[in-house]
Amino acid sequence: MRSPESNLQSIPTDAFSNLSRRIAESEQSTPGLGLAFHSHRVSALVAHLASVIGHEASAARFSRAAYFHDLGKLAVPTGILMSPDVLTSDERAIVETHSESGADILASSSAPDGALAADIARWHHTRFDGSGYPKGRVGSEIPLAARITAVADVYDALRSRRSYKPEETNDSALARMRTIQRAGSGFVFDPQILEALFDTNRNVSLLWDAAALCAISGSDTNSPRGRPHRRLRP
Ligand SMILES: [Fe+2]
Repeated sequence: MRSPESNLQSIPTDAFSNLSRRIAESEQSTPGLGLAFHSHRVSALVAHLASVIGHEASAARFSRAAYFHDLGKLAVPTGILMSPDVLTSDERAIVETHSESGADILASSSAPDGALAADIARWHHTRFDGSGYPKGRVGSEIPLAARITAVADVYDALRSRRSYKPEETNDSALARMRTIQRAGSGFVFDPQILEALFDTNRNVSLLWDAAALCAISGSDTNSPRGRPHRRLRP
């Protein structure tokens, strides 16, 4: 059996279609991983949020590129990604490599928006106040598409059941995001983007439900048929 690392290195980087196919295949090879379904829902939410904050012209590009934000998780052992236990510091450090490893693959892609997708993958866990990972950028220095993806990513993680936590309702997820926003010394999320989520939360919830159904039915070309993920770590 090939290791996850060799699987990631073998991905042809000439087009997004090859990369999305590998994400979709992960749902078949590792039932319950949920990477494709998570990617699909986040991608849908990114398009919505980009439009709400006035970037309609870029919404489709941001959405398509955001689908690959967790590409690097294909190189993380599934035993860690799907662990029901609290991760050790070493395991968390391995998970955190996914932003850089995915970005490196995307940056070498010949796809027209490879650089955009690489920016999203690299910076979607960097918080607005500069904490999170990787370090080095703060506030508007973080690419806009990555700041949008960060909001969509955490919302989806909260709405989804994990082996270590239950799924949450729309209202509960929003309340938690408001708490998270105030938890650090500065803002965790771009305030404008978080407000866009709150202001349109009913549409967001409907969109999230619809995206989940699309993934289940296989009507999205990026998503395989099967059950939605329930155990992916954010
Ligand atoms: Fe991630």
